[in-house]
Amino acid sequence: MFSFSINTGSKKTLYSDLLTTLKELLSEEGDPIANMANTAALIWTYMPDLNWVGFYRAIRSYLILGPFQGKVACVKIPYGQGVCGTAAATGRVQCVRDVHTYPNHISCDPSAASELVIPIRGRQNQILAVIDLESPTMGRFDAEDVEGCARLMEVLGRFLG
Ligand code: SME
Repeated sequence: MFSFSINTGSKKTLYSDLLTTLKELLSEEGDPIANMANTAALIWTYMPDLNWVGFYRAIRSYLILGPFQGKVACVKIPYGQGVCGTAAATGRVQCVRDVHTYPNHISCDPSAASELVIPIRGRQNQILAVIDLESPTMGRFDAEDVEGCARLMEVLGRFLG
């Protein structure tokens, strides 16, 4: 079994260890679904204060639910809808302090209060998917989370296509 250690003492050590671990984990297998599944499990296990983390894959003009951890979620999100669809349509990270104030937020789990969605680009810079992290705590995600998760997704994107 793959062995690794994650120091959760600070966000700096957490993201540094997650990055090292993710690179090793992904280098073992080329299947995109397996790699998204293990990435979701890794983040779910070590990032505190989440109620959902997972992927939506860009398929034609929709985002379709991919591997995730947390409660059952909506399956299909049109581009431009919700936080995920906005991230996919604009290609921009969406860091939402309070989801209740986000104009077209899609609520799958009422306990979610804040959300971070990062577009994932492949080798040709095309958007392949987004990762959605949700927390029951308002303002859970800060600049360090945005940067740390974006770096993780840069690495994952190279393994997805
Ligand atoms: N909140 C997301 C939808 C996905 S789930 O809640 C897991 C959004 O607004 O796009």
